[in-house]
Order: sequence, then structure tokens, then C-alpha cells
Amino acid sequence: MITAIVPGSFDPPTKGHLDVVERCAALFDEVVIGVVHNPSKTPLFTAAERVDLLEACAVQWPNVRAVSFEGLLVDFAKEIGASTVVKGLRAVTDFEFEIQMSQMNRYLSGDIVTLFVATKPEYGYLSSSLVKEVARLGGSIEGLVPDPVAAALKERLK
Ligand code: PNS
Repeated sequence: MITAIVPGSFDPPTKGHLDVVERCAALFDEVVIGVVHNPSKTPLFTAAERVDLLEACAVQWPNVRAVSFEGLLVDFAKEIGASTVVKGLRAVTDFEFEIQMSQMNRYLSGDIVTLFVATKPEYGYLSSSLVKEVARLGGSIEGLVPDPVAAALKERLK
């Protein structure tokens, strides 16, 4: 039984995130979307809200669940019995920081393997920060986020 973690901030989840999750759902027995709760940050959505949004967006994949975690990713991975971390790469600019994080995680725990999934080209420019900025400024985010997220953004920013 192989459990993979797809970790991230997901503030809010985008279609790019869900594309990575969908591919993991087909590749692994169990997929845990790890929603980071960082008490020193002020996200638009609380960790509990992000978990609920991800659960709503992933309802079609029975082997996927969302869980929030605080502290080190490697500790969370051990806690849930996962040895594989999956991250999406949009472009070469993502690579530098992602490889740094994966090597730090490997230093912290030699048991953890990080795999990278290239995002769909149509989501290459997509980020949670840009989605929030466009939504705040009244632009259309249709096609960029799943419906439950679009509704939650509309409600939060009104
Ligand atoms: O969506 P993001 O912001 O790119 O996700 C980053 C995340 C949550 C994967 C990363 O910040 C993380 O793993 N945080 C947990 C804290 C930790 O383990 N830090 C040291 C490892 S580099």
C-alpha cells in the first residue's frame, strides 16, 4: 500500500493543484493532500477551510483525502505512513526552490522520496497568489479554480 502526500499551502486550491492530485489518485493507493498550517502566516482561508475546499474538490477520487498539518512535512509523512511526496512543477523557475526543499527533506529523513509532476501547460502560469489578486480586483477566475473554490472566493472577498 503506497501512500503519497501532495503538500502545499492551497490558499486557495487551483485547477493546477487538482490536476496534480488527479494524476496521483491514479498512481497511488492512497493520496493525502497535506495542507500546511503556518501560525506565522495570515492566509485568506484557514487550514480547516482549505481542507474542506479540497475535500469538496476531490470528492470524485475515493482514495484522496485532505488533512492539515503543522511543523515539518517529514514528521507528518511519518505520522501517516507515507514515504512519497509529490510536488507539481510549472516551470523551471519552480525547480530551484522545489529541489532545495526536496533535498532538505531528504536530509531530514532519508526515507522520504520526492517526485515531481509537470503541470498541464495550460496551468503553467497559474498560482494561488495570482488567483487571489485577480479575484480581489474583480477579474474572472472562471476556469482557474474548481467551482467550490470560486464560490468561496466570491463569498470571502465580497
Ligand atoms: O504550496 P507551497 O507554499 O509551495 O507549499 C510549501 C510546503 C507547504 C510544501 C512547504 O512549505 C513545507 O513543506 N512546509 C512544512 C515545513 C517544513 O517541513 N519545512 C522544511 C522542509 S523544506
